[in-house]
Amino acid sequence: MPGTELFDQMEIDAVCDVLRRKMVHRYSSHAARAGVYRVSEFETALAKRVGSRHALAVSNGTSALFVGLKAMGIGPGDEVITSAFTFIATVEAIIGCGAIPVLADVDETLGMDPASVARKITPRTKAIMPVHMFGAATRMEPLLELGRTYGIPVVEDSCEVTGGTYKGKALGTFGLWGTYSFDPNKYVTTGEGGAIVTDDEELYTKMEYYHDHGHVHRLDIERGAEDKCGLGLNFRMSEIEGALGLVALKKMDTALSLLRSTKRKVLDGVAGTGLTPRPVPNPEGDIATHIVFLLPSAEAAKRFQAVTAECGMPVGIIGENTWHYAKHWKALHMLSGQSIGGSTAPSYAPETMAQTEAVLSRAVFYCPSLLTSDETVAKMIGALKAGAKAVL
Ligand SMILES: Cc1ncc(COP(=O)(O)O)c(C=O)c1O
Repeated sequence: MPGTELFDQMEIDAVCDVLRRKMVHRYSSHAARAGVYRVSEFETALAKRVGSRHALAVSNGTSALFVGLKAMGIGPGDEVITSAFTFIATVEAIIGCGAIPVLADVDETLGMDPASVARKITPRTKAIMPVHMFGAATRMEPLLELGRTYGIPVVEDSCEVTGGTYKGKALGTFGLWGTYSFDPNKYVTTGEGGAIVTDDEELYTKMEYYHDHGHVHRLDIERGAEDKCGLGLNFRMSEIEGALGLVALKKMDTALSLLRSTKRKVLDGVAGTGLTPRPVPNPEGDIATHIVFLLPSAEAAKRFQAVTAECGMPVGIIGENTWHYAKHWKALHMLSGQSIGGSTAPSYAPETMAQTEAVLSRAVFYCPSLLTSDETVAKMIGALKAGAKAVL
């Protein structure tokens, strides 16, 4: 479902405008740019869209997570609880801060199981980071409640769900901060890009400094003459990406309705077959990038996959997804029991993820493109029906 499928003259014009004006840096040349700041415009539009006080555009979703964690002071000796079902960037951002990722199991919603999270809390836990995966929300109330009970901030890896909502509120705006990714695989894409949203003024200021070497950004001070408020790194978004982001936000609702319409057609088409769709905590706010079904067992999922392949529309099995499941990350497993930031990491061996395995090994999915034709929808429905007939 990459947003590039909807690219047209609007993106070409937006990028050419930046190139023609030769203003690719978001902060420099105040006098020459005649008041045009595309990244700032994008931040304002994004914050408005999700209902957050602040949005900071950054270079990608990974850096959004890293900057968010750094700004709240996560460092050596700290533990951050996150999901075993996520993209590896989530744990890399935590490790990048010198902190220890602690992986909680998911339940059938594919979001973190609050009971598993509760079991992982220790005096060193400094954040709980749910990850909203494959288009839908994690159930937020129990996690926010845990956060309140133990005085631990909840932060959201909402990189996969820009535009998604839970009970009418934008995903990414439930915790202290939330992140979005606009990488080339996302339906809202700027090529590479990301953002952090927060209502916390002080935190936002720290993020803003940190993402640009600690520089103070003021329109009355030219780049190079500004003060530094501390150390940071460079995670700036360029004006080219900002311009693309503005167009992507304009197209977001069209993209969402395309994805939702495809999902609706497929779910309607398989009604009565006995197939169980993933229980989605936010049916009205699901961005519908993925269509997931839960089968009775891992064996059933494998047979189901084979039958759908014979129909020319093979489903994926989430448990076999090497990108999004910690069971497959050998580079992380090797850190089991090793020192991270001076503290000892827990075991990340696949056996520690038995509950997650029990769900993901029987979860099958399609990830439709934005421009899925009715013919393809019919083919998907046919394959799913054949699979259901064979295994249920
Ligand atoms: C859950 C999750 N977190 C973080 C990221 C990282 O985003 P990016 O690729 O923009 O660095 C992704 C990207 O796929 C993701 O799916």
